[in-house]
Amino acid sequence: MTTIMITGANGQLGSLILENLRSRIPVGHIIAGVRSVEQASFIREQGIEVRKVDYDVPESLNEAFDGISRLLLISSSHTDDNVRLAQHKRVIDAAVRSGVGHILYTGFAFSQQRSDPGKPDNVHTLTEQAIMESGMEYTFLRNALYIDFVGVLGLKEALSSGELVTAPGEWRFNSVGRRDLALAATAAVLGEDGAGNHIYELTAPQTWDFDDLAEVLTEVAGKPVVHRQDDGIQHWIYAFMSKLDTSSTSGDLERLMGRPVTPLKDSILPFIV
Ligand SMILES: NC(=O)c1ccc[n+]([C@@H]2O[C@H](COP(=O)([O-])OP(=O)(O)OC[C@H]3O[C@@H](n4cnc5c(N)ncnc54)[C@H](OP(=O)(O)O)[C@@H]3O)[C@@H](O)[C@H]2O)c1
Repeated sequence: MTTIMITGANGQLGSLILENLRSRIPVGHIIAGVRSVEQASFIREQGIEVRKVDYDVPESLNEAFDGISRLLLISSSHTDDNVRLAQHKRVIDAAVRSGVGHILYTGFAFSQQRSDPGKPDNVHTLTEQAIMESGMEYTFLRNALYIDFVGVLGLKEALSSGELVTAPGEWRFNSVGRRDLALAATAAVLGEDGAGNHIYELTAPQTWDFDDLAEVLTEVAGKPVVHRQDDGIQHWIYAFMSKLDTSSTSGDLERLMGRPVTPLKDSILPFIV
């Protein structure tokens, strides 16, 4: 019997994956790994077993991974990448000790391309490397930048003012919502892609830009919303995004989901209501 564990199951992505799994396989095959069991009563109420999985507490990991055949490690949300890497390595070591057969890891799309191949320096590449060295079978789910970032662009203001104002630059995005990523992760966790190792770049198959976003806002508003670049716009998000590859694309997400990605208009709705 395959027993699947999702770590970070109290989190946004983890709970969506749990929800998907629950509708696909008997709950007896699913185990939720959470840092705080007190906050997981909503999971237990669904009949899913909950185990404590704290990436900072190795003892919790040994017990938690007992009997797990497929483990989805959701990357830590800690803000310090050195801490995150140490946490991930603890999970990987414990998974090996517990005899986990297949580990899945949520990284970031195309982060490899920004690393020097001889000397990778980002947490996702280094975590993937540790997984490859562990000898476990693996699947790398390299997630696009979540669509949530549009939440800081002032979309509501743009709808009322008729102007979407962004910082200058050649911005292009492969971003999608967590629901799409969770659906793809669910298929991978269930092993629908077959045995062996897999690497997926989970992005939209085509990019969109701020002009496209203004067009969508125009549709929503029922009146023109134009896009204007202004170098007076200062927000940390632009510096953050300039360090990422947000524009490379892949068909992996749609292939794994078995359906097209959610249209931009639907994805941004939660950020304008
Ligand atoms: N692709 C992107 O654009 C993007 C953006 C942001 C984050 N991420 C990454 O994707 C991951 C999942 O996203 P999300 O939206 O689900 O984030 P989230 O809602 O913040 O969930 C993160 C989960 O990780 C758990 N966690 C954090 N530290 C832990 C530890 N030491 N031990 C065990 N669990 C720990 C949290 O536990 P608690 O519930 O106890 O806090 C939470 O359940 C994030 O953790 C982050 O690494 C990706």
